[in-house]
Amino acid sequence: MRVFRAPGRVNLIGEHTDYNLGFVLPIALDLACFSAAADSDDGFLRVYSEEKRQLRGWPIADLARLAPAHDWTDYVVGVAQELIRAGYLIQPKRLLVRSSVPEGSGLSSSAALEVSAALALLGGQDIASLRLAELCQRAETCFVGLPCGIMDQYISVFGRENAALKIDCRSLENEVISLPGEVEIIAVNTMIKHELSQSAYVERTHECAAAVDAVRRLDPTVSSLRDVTIPLLDQATPLMPDVMARRARHVVTENQRVGLFVTASRGKDLERMGQLMVESHVSLLHDYEVSSPELDFLVDTAVGIDGVLGARMTGGGFGGCTVNLLRRGAGERFRYEIAQAYKGRFGLMPQMFNCRPSQGAGEVKNVEKIPSGAALPS
Ligand code: GLA
Repeated sequence: MRVFRAPGRVNLIGEHTDYNLGFVLPIALDLACFSAAADSDDGFLRVYSEEKRQLRGWPIADLARLAPAHDWTDYVVGVAQELIRAGYLIQPKRLLVRSSVPEGSGLSSSAALEVSAALALLGGQDIASLRLAELCQRAETCFVGLPCGIMDQYISVFGRENAALKIDCRSLENEVISLPGEVEIIAVNTMIKHELSQSAYVERTHECAAAVDAVRRLDPTVSSLRDVTIPLLDQATPLMPDVMARRARHVVTENQRVGLFVTASRGKDLERMGQLMVESHVSLLHDYEVSSPELDFLVDTAVGIDGVLGARMTGGGFGGCTVNLLRRGAGERFRYEIAQAYKGRFGLMPQMFNCRPSQGAGEVKNVEKIPSGAALPS
């Protein structure tokens, strides 16, 4: 049996910029999905999800032509199809999937499943890290049907201990950004996932593409919002409907904020880092319109708590988590106050996660360290 781990992520800043080929600054978490794999000789791929307590299986020969089932298995089958298409051999196997990344929390449980399942299916066949991230993203776009950017799969593969990665979603290169030792990061889960998230995400990608078309009337060299400067956007704004201009403004200013955040982080300007996170949230709320009352409440409450430098929604939006930047040592009080306030307002206890930047995906050699649970499906 071999075991492969792939982490979830929290994005510090740079939201809804990845599919616009801009910049993001995520960290990989120590919350992760583990896929254990054992060879079998019955010609099937069988997968057991501990969370769902469901066992599913398909003849290997059918994998390439399966249609989406619109459930968790799509992440596994989608990845298998991409691997087959790329020329990899998928052998009959039994997989056991166990994840500590809470589903629907905006911490990228799906990318963690995709990447760990891909590694388990590959069973040690050589693959370049970038190729792995790209195949998993394609599985999500083509099979699962969410036209996502590369951020989640990329950070799950490339994550670094004790550092964030500034990813250039066009060149697909990254820069390792160590964070000041004086801060800690806590994610707070609203415990809510609004139905709107998937359809609104697709709508935003279309709105951004339409904004690019409008800007191109002024500057035909522009091929994505990544290329748009603020003066160019100001010039193009009268050529677009107000909503489209606001979407573009979010992306253009958010790309800029990623760079400013990195500079502030390097200069240990903690206040500025926090301020940029709040600006990002405001932009996501008003210009991009992907926040929710629960997220806004968590951000507003957080910034009023002692030791909190900044807070913002993280991930796709419409629920999921906020990411909070705190002075080291302020965590305990923060957790208490946020929980009280959120419970008082929404009647729900928010889950909270210490976000320690952890390493990207790979095989787990020390299998005893994985929390024990069910055995492999037979
Ligand atoms: C989701 C997508 C990512 C990214 C974020 C928003 O998590 O999977 O690719 O677009 O939303 O930044």
